[in-house]
Amino acid sequence: MTAEITREDAWSEYWQTGALHSCATSLDDGYSGAIGDFWHEVASEIPEGAAVLDIATGNGPVPKFLAGFNNASTWLIRGIDLAGIHPTWLNSASHVDVKLIGNCGLGEAQSKLLAGGDPTQFNVLTSQFGWEYITPRSDAIEQALQLTKPGGVWRFVSHHADGVLAKVAREEVAHVDFLLGESGLLKRAKDLLPWMERAILDVETVRNNAQASDARNAYNDAMAGISDRLRTSSAPDLLNEAREGIHSLVAQVGGGAKLRHHDILMQWRQGLHASRLRCQELIDHCLSQSDIDMLFAELRIRDSDVAATAVELSQAERLLGWGIRVNWSA
Ligand SMILES: C[S@@+](CC[C@H](N)C(=O)[O-])C[C@H]1O[C@@H](n2cnc3c(N)ncnc32)[C@H](O)[C@@H]1O
Repeated sequence: MTAEITREDAWSEYWQTGALHSCATSLDDGYSGAIGDFWHEVASEIPEGAAVLDIATGNGPVPKFLAGFNNASTWLIRGIDLAGIHPTWLNSASHVDVKLIGNCGLGEAQSKLLAGGDPTQFNVLTSQFGWEYITPRSDAIEQALQLTKPGGVWRFVSHHADGVLAKVAREEVAHVDFLLGESGLLKRAKDLLPWMERAILDVETVRNNAQASDARNAYNDAMAGISDRLRTSSAPDLLNEAREGIHSLVAQVGGGAKLRHHDILMQWRQGLHASRLRCQELIDHCLSQSDIDMLFAELRIRDSDVAATAVELSQAERLLGWGIRVNWSA
């Protein structure tokens, strides 16, 4: 059995790997392309002396990007995230006033910022694939507004319901279910590994044992099933990683390595559950055009003069997300 994993745990586990952003395979650190263009434009409009807050910052790719700008030495940059974070790049950003606060949900940001001697209202709120995760949306709007100075702006890159990242997430959820299913690779490896271990001591008995050969065949079938899936998958990374990782475990045990394979498989299982949760949350929180319309209608209830736009960010015919700009009246 795997203990129920929370959103916070799933992301904390991810950020502890040191990854800079959540779409490690979809965005380059140099921020070229449509999302980079959006943030370049945002950065070029931030006035001197501005206070910037990045919501759901993760390991802080947006603060890191902003910290590289000439004007950054005049800005105060803060980031908050619900999860435990591990932004190693901060050690080398000493010329900029930047601080990231982990284990801090948006709803508690004001009190935590205050406790840390930081401002509690900002000229610019940013978020990359983050703010939309916070629901109910009316709370997320309210909480973000409390952190916004009059006349402040929001600049968000958000997941798009028809975007490539949502598509990848849907595929990865299906991959995880396949891997963790009753005849999936994890279960098959679990059944096989004790036989592999026993074969080191007594190869003949294992060779002639029907259960052992059933376990071997079932494992091979599971591996073949992955190969079939890989042939048609447009998002193969997770499957490849699991296939290589489990294959290597089986090969090591078969070669006589004394490994706690039960624990290793349990870690794999937990990691896959966490991946699934992150993907499912992306799917559940990505924004369609009608979500954007509803969002903007809610903003206008709070400020009839608010200016809000959303553009689709695409590159090489891949729809990556929404670029949302909100300017509050003074
Ligand atoms: C897809 S990641 C984006 C992280 C980062 N902005 C990036 O571009 O890589 C979504 C983040 O939202 C955070 N998050 C979810 N709910 C939150 C909340 N209520 N308050 C603050 N952060 C939250 C998660 O912990 C996670 O780190």
